[in-house]
Amino acid sequence: MIVNGKEFKIVPYISKERIDKRILELSKIITNDYKGKKLKVIGILKGSVPFMDALLQNVDNELIALDYMCVSSYRGTESTGVVRILKDLDYSISGEDVIIVEDIIDTGNTLNKVIEILKTRNPKSIKVATLLDKPSRREVDIKADYVGFEIEDKFVAGFGLDYEQYLRQLPYIGVVEFI
Ligand code: IMP
Ligand code: MG
Repeated sequence: MIVNGKEFKIVPYISKERIDKRILELSKIITNDYKGKKLKVIGILKGSVPFMDALLQNVDNELIALDYMCVSSYRGTESTGVVRILKDLDYSISGEDVIIVEDIIDTGNTLNKVIEILKTRNPKSIKVATLLDKPSRREVDIKADYVGFEIEDKFVAGFGLDYEQYLRQLPYIGVVEFI
């Protein structure tokens, strides 16, 4: 495959079966953590969509409301460290128990900035769920409360994650290998 003049292939890394199984485990933990509570779940567009969808369908709690935010901090495979809000939340989070859902935490800069912004809006609590975590790349001290998989320092795509906006629709996660 060639995108923007760069040739690459996608090498299977985490199968759909493993992803589904792990997400189900996280759903059960979240069910327990928010028993009897209303919950606001914020998806960071666009990468979190398949993860958030699978995660919440198996959380046993009717009182979950969704909202989405779109931020941008990435160009190609390298973090710019600059975070822009492209689309803000539609609703207030004041007094609410919030879970932010991300596709991946890499340097941590994006999430750090998002949390900083959301904290000023006085939520009751903020937790973070991420499908993938690359702890070896961290530049800021930030940890997710719910982590699907810790991965090595590889550029991955699929299950919401993109390479130059492509590959998000893949049902599995693969490593993008340049040829
Ligand atoms: P951070 O600010 O460095 O933590 O980067 C977070 C964002 O970078 C994620 O939401 C992704 O959009 C993107 N990103 C980081 N690593 C990867 C990767 O391996 N594949 C695809 N996107 C990635
Ligand atoms: Mg992203």
